[in-house]
Amino acid sequence: MAEPLLQTRDLSMHFGGVKAVNDVNFTLAQGELRCLIGPNGAGKSTFFKMLTGQLEPTRGEVLFRGNDISHAHAHTIARMGIGIKTQVPSVFDGLSVRENIWLAASRLNSRERARRLVDEMLARIGLTQAADRIVGQLAHGQRQWVELGLVLATDPELILLDEPAAGMTHEEVQKTAELVREINRTKALIVVEHDMQFIRMIAKQVTVFNRGSILVEDSVENILRNPLVRDIYLGKQAAA
Ligand SMILES: Nc1ncnc2c1ncn2[C@@H]1O[C@H](COP(=O)(O)OP(=O)(O)OP(=O)(O)O)[C@@H](O)[C@H]1O
Ligand SMILES: [Mg+2]
Repeated sequence: MAEPLLQTRDLSMHFGGVKAVNDVNFTLAQGELRCLIGPNGAGKSTFFKMLTGQLEPTRGEVLFRGNDISHAHAHTIARMGIGIKTQVPSVFDGLSVRENIWLAASRLNSRERARRLVDEMLARIGLTQAADRIVGQLAHGQRQWVELGLVLATDPELILLDEPAAGMTHEEVQKTAELVREINRTKALIVVEHDMQFIRMIAKQVTVFNRGSILVEDSVENILRNPLVRDIYLGKQAAA
């Protein structure tokens, strides 16, 4: 069997008494697209932050291509090939689409390669026509795609997306799903999302987080009809 791209072993993040993430054993294959769902406060974003070095785990390991990155710095992990689009916007509203993507591309690439990447990314996110527009004046969906472009421009092998479809119109959600599927042709992704329609459009395998632990992992069809999953989304007490 091929080596997994990413693996966590007993990964835990405790904030005082709050077990935000607790003993998570997670495996992602090379090139896989996995969706991560779960109610508010389940630990999804905290899990992401330990994968990117924003948070140092309380306990456990993160292995990326077999290398232990649990205690590596965020910039080291970015260079190794894990990119993230966080829940918090990271675009510069006063700059153009092109300038934003250029800044991201030139951070980890030579000037020449960055220049090529910028045009490629603009085409990929469908914003070539809007390249010179100021990001602060774009529609919400377009701004989100600029953020995706920023992540892509650093050319990571694994991309983490934290709620990429949040606040989007149905049309924008559909376009984002297409974009994610297109990105998955060349890259592995883990996508956190609450929008079940979006999940349905992109997902194959789904991991459900609840209270810092993996509740269940299954195909999207099985997850959608799993009574345990329905219960936690309706706010009922889930069986531990
Ligand atoms: N820096 C922190 N200090 C203390 N507690 C934290 C910190 N970050 C997160 N938590 C707590 O950890 C738990 C998990 O939070 P997290 O943000 O990972 O959830 P989430 O699954 O991403 O939720 P959402 O769907 O609302 O984004 C919550 O109880 C949260 O209050
Ligand atoms: Mg979150």
